[in-house]
Amino acid sequence: MVCLGNICRSPLADGLLRDKVLQNKLAVNVDSAGTANYHTGGAPDLRMTQTAQNNGIDISGLRARQFEVSDFDKFDWIYVMDQSNFTNVTGMARHEMDAKKVKLILSELEGSSDLEVPDPYYGEQDGFDRVYEMLDQATEQILIKLLND
Ligand code: 4NP
Repeated sequence: MVCLGNICRSPLADGLLRDKVLQNKLAVNVDSAGTANYHTGGAPDLRMTQTAQNNGIDISGLRARQFEVSDFDKFDWIYVMDQSNFTNVTGMARHEMDAKKVKLILSELEGSSDLEVPDPYYGEQDGFDRVYEMLDQATEQILIKLLND
């Protein structure tokens, strides 16, 4: 799961998928990273941690890190939150096989016209709630794919 800062959207996507994978007893490695390094080592934004907590998801233990080229070797699927993340991550791809792993996370939702998970960082609480709804639905679809794998 990749966003810009790795303190709002991608930690939540990470926590949601981790929770679904655990509940379904799947052996899948879930992680998250940011394309930027501004928050490396930092905890998720408190507003996101609380939004997750209100829904029974604990992301307080996650720490931000920057996406690196070796992530292409460690993960089969790399989900990005917006077009800018897509450009940055595919820009680090060494070859077509790396680039093919990168997908906009909302492309997992049938008929999604709203393909970006908006950055809630500079907004209000409703933005965090909206991100929660989007990522809960998208990670549910990813779980279904994993269960059918
Ligand atoms: P995220 O949100 O990419 O969802 O983690 C942001 C967090 C921090 C900043 C931007 C976006 N920032 O500019 O510090």
